[in-house]
Amino acid sequence: MLKGKTVLLGVTGSIAAYKTASLASALKKLHADVHVLMTQNAVNFINPITFETLTGNKCLVDTFDRNFEYSVEHVSLAKKADVVMIAPASANVIGKIAHGIADDMLTTTVMACRCRKIVAPAMNTNMFENPIVQDNMKILEKYGYEVISPAVGYLACGDTGAGKMPEPELLLEYILQEIACEKDMQGLNVLVTAGPTQEAADPVRYLTNHSTGKMGYAIATVCARRGASVTLVSGPTALKKPQFVRTVEITTAKEMFEAVTERAAEQDIIVKAAAVADYRPKSVSSEKMKKKDGELTLELERTDDILAWLGGHKRPGQFLCGFAMETQDLIGNARQKLQKKNLDMIVANSLRVEGAGFGGDTNVVTMITENEELSLGKMSKEETASKIMDRIMDIRAAEDIGGSENNRI
Ligand code: CTP
Repeated sequence: MLKGKTVLLGVTGSIAAYKTASLASALKKLHADVHVLMTQNAVNFINPITFETLTGNKCLVDTFDRNFEYSVEHVSLAKKADVVMIAPASANVIGKIAHGIADDMLTTTVMACRCRKIVAPAMNTNMFENPIVQDNMKILEKYGYEVISPAVGYLACGDTGAGKMPEPELLLEYILQEIACEKDMQGLNVLVTAGPTQEAADPVRYLTNHSTGKMGYAIATVCARRGASVTLVSGPTALKKPQFVRTVEITTAKEMFEAVTERAAEQDIIVKAAAVADYRPKSVSSEKMKKKDGELTLELERTDDILAWLGGHKRPGQFLCGFAMETQDLIGNARQKLQKKNLDMIVANSLRVEGAGFGGDTNVVTMITENEELSLGKMSKEETASKIMDRIMDIRAAEDIGGSENNRI
């Protein structure tokens, strides 16, 4: 995902420095060229050899290190960087950068960088809340730096409060958001639905399905990385809410219907990956139903078909993509839904195919439009999401459809 991208990681003197090793490793696994710059104080917390082993690049610590050509190093690194992240960022380094002080390898290189710079402060709560530090962070923001709010929690000094460096997974999300994708969806509003719905029978039981939400979450994440403004309407899932996406949590098909339909008009693209219940219990018992001898018949009633409603209310230029999971006659059944619900595309997968369907990290789908059927091989749900969005963007470009409001082509 990051092949050909150069990431500079600045590490300063904070106990959180050990977490940056995981971040460097994760970036390397995504094929980024990772260069770590450390302050002298950071070396007291983590050995540069750790970073050198993980990244395969020399870890740069001090401008007066005679083992490398400093003048070339810091300027050439600054030139080729696609993003800089300082994590952990101490109060000292934040203060220095905010006031234009460049007196070591890290601060001189950051000063010479034109790319986006992201800062993850990590320090004691009292230091973090100190008005001087707060002002310095505002100065950084004024100059276009992104300052990540530290997490609140138990700190190494024994205090509990704000100042904890976010976990490496979250820091990685910020870097991916910045450089993983071309921003070809900038200005577009995208609504994605994901996950199952739950239809209560009584306060204890409900009807649902095996959807985990992974496919819809992958689509929302990919669209956000490509610059779209994304709303994710999600049924109950165990997944972490994606960063840079507005998530609306719902439980029932009725709640999903309301959340989607009230936001539908302003959307340029709607992707309905959710597995919505087609039926719900006709009456919901207010008390727990006690078991009795013999059989129990549960009366069900239809829920509203959200996708069909969207197809009936589609505004010109709006792209509507549904999903169909089938166990037989995949293409025939999916094509029927495409026509019946007035969709621009339906993404079909078969529960019978290995690597497709609920829960797993891969999918095998066919993208069906009025005129074509394009089958994708087995790939990760994130890759599948990218291919689906590539195709949607191509179709929109061919039809010369622009974005919302002022962003039309
Ligand atoms: N869908 C929806 N609202 C519903 C049911 C389904 O919006 N009440 C959407 C799903 O999000 C999906 C598409 O419709 O994008 C296909 O769902 P599916 O349940 O497979 O299709 P149905 O039309 O309900 O057909 P069937 O159950 O007969 O397969």
